[in-house]
Amino acid sequence: MCGIVGYIGHREAYPIILKGLKRLEYRGYDSAGIALYDGTDIKLSKTKGKVADLETKLEQEISTSGSLGIGHTRWATHGVPNDVNSHPHYSNSGDLVIIHNGIIENYESLKKELIKRGYTFKSDTDTEVLVNLIEDVKKNENTKLGKAVQIALNQVVGAYAIAVFDKNKPNEIVVARLGSPLAIGIGEDEFFIASDASPFIEYTKNAIYLEDEEMAVVRRHKGVKIRKIKDDSLVDPYVQALKLNLEQIEKGGYDHFMLKEIYEQPNAILDTFRGRLLTNEAIIKMAGVEDNMKKFLNANRIIVVACGTSWHAGLVSEYIFEDLARIPVEVEYASEFRYRNPIITENDVVIAISQSGETADTLAAIKLAKSKGAFVFGVCNVVGSSIARETHAGAYTHAGPEIGVASTKAFTTQITVLTLIALRLARAKGTISSSDYRHHLIELELIPAKVKKALESDAYVKTVAAIYKDVHNFLYLGRGYNFPVALEGALKLKEISYIHAEGYPAAEMKHGPIALIDENMPIVVIATKKGHYEKVVSNIQEIKSRKGKIIGIVTEGDQQVKALADHVIEVPETIESLTPLLTTIPLQLLSYHIALMLGKNVDQPRNLAKAVTVE
Ligand code: G6P
Repeated sequence: MCGIVGYIGHREAYPIILKGLKRLEYRGYDSAGIALYDGTDIKLSKTKGKVADLETKLEQEISTSGSLGIGHTRWATHGVPNDVNSHPHYSNSGDLVIIHNGIIENYESLKKELIKRGYTFKSDTDTEVLVNLIEDVKKNENTKLGKAVQIALNQVVGAYAIAVFDKNKPNEIVVARLGSPLAIGIGEDEFFIASDASPFIEYTKNAIYLEDEEMAVVRRHKGVKIRKIKDDSLVDPYVQALKLNLEQIEKGGYDHFMLKEIYEQPNAILDTFRGRLLTNEAIIKMAGVEDNMKKFLNANRIIVVACGTSWHAGLVSEYIFEDLARIPVEVEYASEFRYRNPIITENDVVIAISQSGETADTLAAIKLAKSKGAFVFGVCNVVGSSIARETHAGAYTHAGPEIGVASTKAFTTQITVLTLIALRLARAKGTISSSDYRHHLIELELIPAKVKKALESDAYVKTVAAIYKDVHNFLYLGRGYNFPVALEGALKLKEISYIHAEGYPAAEMKHGPIALIDENMPIVVIATKKGHYEKVVSNIQEIKSRKGKIIGIVTEGDQQVKALADHVIEVPETIESLTPLLTTIPLQLLSYHIALMLGKNVDQPRNLAKAVTVE
């Protein structure tokens, strides 16, 4: 995890780096630091806490002038979040300074060697080991910084995106990547380094994304030279034109990114449809699927690999694929799958779902599946991300940047893409009648408007949130398509309000969670008309007779649950397979309001990060 930013050019580096770090705080926010070269020396300031804390401290401590600098916002791996462990880190001589996103796995043995050679360490970090290893190589081999970085990285096991500079050579920054993302923005006689393009989007639309095992020397007035770290071969830079714009990464009048992103869902889903869902022609067009139709049609099964909220979208897709396209589906936590010696054959299709496209475990699961001959299809949001590039083919969700750490629009757009794929395959396989297919397309097209309608429950959800904000436990129940939504609702609440919540299949409640139910326990029950309604109503009766507090998520106009529940939140009616796209909305709002009322940091919950690039 962690966000890194760097600048070399003709402007003041500090404001660019500071703003860039704020945009990258979704990647980690337990400490932050900046190192600037002021024309004679390195000025460095760092602190435990958020970038805003750094801003206050830094401006009191050091001068902010200089046109070369690097900055870091951290999600701690090695060493607790404190001032000393924060990045940037100096080498022992004080000549080199580095920022790092990732983990150096063999840092202990490298550190022992360096200690034997007289190096001392102030922090507990693997990063301080790396910068001293680079310094050691540089001295011993009497090489330039770029070469020293290359030799050092060839001794390193682990993952990294790094940026390092030498105060004696203040006209270059050396960067490298393995497993953690790194983009270089190419401006007019200026260069930007960042974990993603958001820090430099207002300065340039041209960027190079380094590939794994590549490094670059970025020289003032001269440009970027990229090499393979292993064999030293030169790589032709591929400069991409970015489509991202500034408005997309700002809050646009909302108090929090999470709320903005919840409200963006009608449009985000429309963007996911764009050019793909052609209802009048009864066509679904997805190039990644069409080009690989044989693979999908010959698939013995689909294995979905993902983490967190994306895993929940995968669980929803299990119902969709099996129901519509009659393809067996297994949904795996990427972190378990990759270490389980799974049985994968060439006739398996692996679908990797990831908002960021950078999740380390999902990436590793993809590599494993590829090595066993499976066809791997990616469903990612971030264009050009590592997973998007590592997969054989894929479909973007086109949800736009998701900055709030708790995932919202990524989830609904992932389900949308997976539904489109399932429908396309069902049509190709003949497992759906043409009238049913058309009916699905029409219902799908109505979803953005219905999501908008579901958002109208916001004010009422807020009153429900006020009633339950002080409880310590929540239970979320759902059946069928809405069981994964129950899991997702519980996850949202845990993530941002720190209230313990469990999601459960409604019928399984009898096998354990029912023991928890008393008059203090709120239970959110998803009880839409389509989808085992009567069964869920029986579950509600069971809760009621044990005095549990019932918050029902129901179809508009429902009377039966209304008569039993303490509160009902209505969503518009749709076909069963599409209900998750609507029932999710009030659950997102509920967690948002509770967290806000409890005074929690909604967009940056403690201990979490948006992109988990460590395993
Ligand atoms: C982190 C985020 C979650 C996300 C998960 C998977 O835990 O906080 O919101 O669902 O990673 O991320 P991905 O980018 O692969 O979807």
